[in-house]
Amino acid sequence: MANATGLISAYATCTGRRNLSSYGISRSGFLSVERNMKRVFLCSAVEGVEGHASGAPSSKPRASRLLGKGCKLVGCGSAVPELMISNDDLAKIVDTSDEWISVRTGIRNRRILSGNETLTGLAIEASRKALHMAQVEPDELDLILMCTSTPDDLFGSGPQIQKELGCKRNPLAFDIRAACSGFLLGLTTAGSFIRAGGFENVLVIGADALSRYVDWTDRGTCILFGDAAGAVVVQACNDDENALLGYDVHSDGDGQKYLNATIKDKEAENVLGSNNGAAGFPPGLSSYSCIQMNGQEVFRFAVRCVPQSIEASLVKAGLTSSSIDWLLLHQANQRILDAVATRLRIPSDHVISNLANYGNTSAASIPLALDEAVRGGKVQAGNIVATAGFGAGLTWGSAIMRWG
Ligand code: UT7
Repeated sequence: MANATGLISAYATCTGRRNLSSYGISRSGFLSVERNMKRVFLCSAVEGVEGHASGAPSSKPRASRLLGKGCKLVGCGSAVPELMISNDDLAKIVDTSDEWISVRTGIRNRRILSGNETLTGLAIEASRKALHMAQVEPDELDLILMCTSTPDDLFGSGPQIQKELGCKRNPLAFDIRAACSGFLLGLTTAGSFIRAGGFENVLVIGADALSRYVDWTDRGTCILFGDAAGAVVVQACNDDENALLGYDVHSDGDGQKYLNATIKDKEAENVLGSNNGAAGFPPGLSSYSCIQMNGQEVFRFAVRCVPQSIEASLVKAGLTSSSIDWLLLHQANQRILDAVATRLRIPSDHVISNLANYGNTSAASIPLALDEAVRGGKVQAGNIVATAGFGAGLTWGSAIMRWG
């Protein structure tokens, strides 16, 4: 079991040169600390492959920036597929009912990718909305974190999103794969890059299409999941404006047996083997199995670990649960939301829930629910939001943040 807890206001200073060229981005920085402020001169070479095609890589200096040691959330956006599948629709293909699903989970509808829709397309739509709210141009982004376990490209979709958004400076872009905890881990990763790496504008996307890995004959899982994308822009700021107040993150591989979609045993084609070559070579094409879940164990894990994690984050933030304006959990099951709220003594009208409309959208569920709550006027500037992700891995974690 690995545990990591962090206090956002504790940050790593760095001086001298940094070279991130292995990411296709090189960055040298000089840093002088004046009380709560760092003056960071970023002289970064940020060139795409095409920029290099005609000659040796060149270095274009970036503008000097005055960065603080805090970070704040300045924009959010979301996108969902067109196709809506109701509980009654599912009752036509498996032995279930609208009543069973809505009573046991709170879910009534979910959205599923169809036609020409792609997960990358949803992520781009959500990102554009978040950038618009944040009034940040794609060219101003320093980092894109695509949190997904179901990318359109096995090797990751982050760079594709960078390209489609038209980021001329080619910010570093990569994927984070941590299922339903993906967005929460993306958020804390963004904070770390801002604090320790001198990054200023970070786009954190949570997007998943678990419908691709659902066994549509298994009533125990197919009723739960939906597809969606959500995004936030996290921005560097001075310490006194810091809005990511505390976090707590964990993983426990021993629990993987309760929730997984592992690689299937390949049927080796044995072409060479049949010709007296190496047995089992070349290998057959790999694919993943459908989602396997022990729902009761995952339920128990969530209601035990999530309140503990939020309490740990509150301690790090120097707050108590009475300071929480909104409890924003990964939207897995209404009964989990209710149980966690009861343990933390948070009234039900302070719990954000939209899973009736979308089901469990994995890494997308937190930014999707946040975006709806912000645009719907529920979450307002200055509100304290306690958020937590949990799921396959097992992974889980929480963060206390101030919106706006
Ligand atoms: O992001 C994290 C991902 N996963 C989760 O968060 C899942 C957490 N777990 C859960 O949400 C719940 O465990 C479920 C919703 C998956 C299941 O609810 P439950 O109250 O734990 O039901 P159960 O598995 O104990 O099943 C109770 C009964 C069983 O029948 P018997 O053995 O009592 O005759 C099931 O076969 O309900 C049956 N059942 C269903 N019946 C109608 C299971 N699924 C269905 C269904 N429709 N869809």
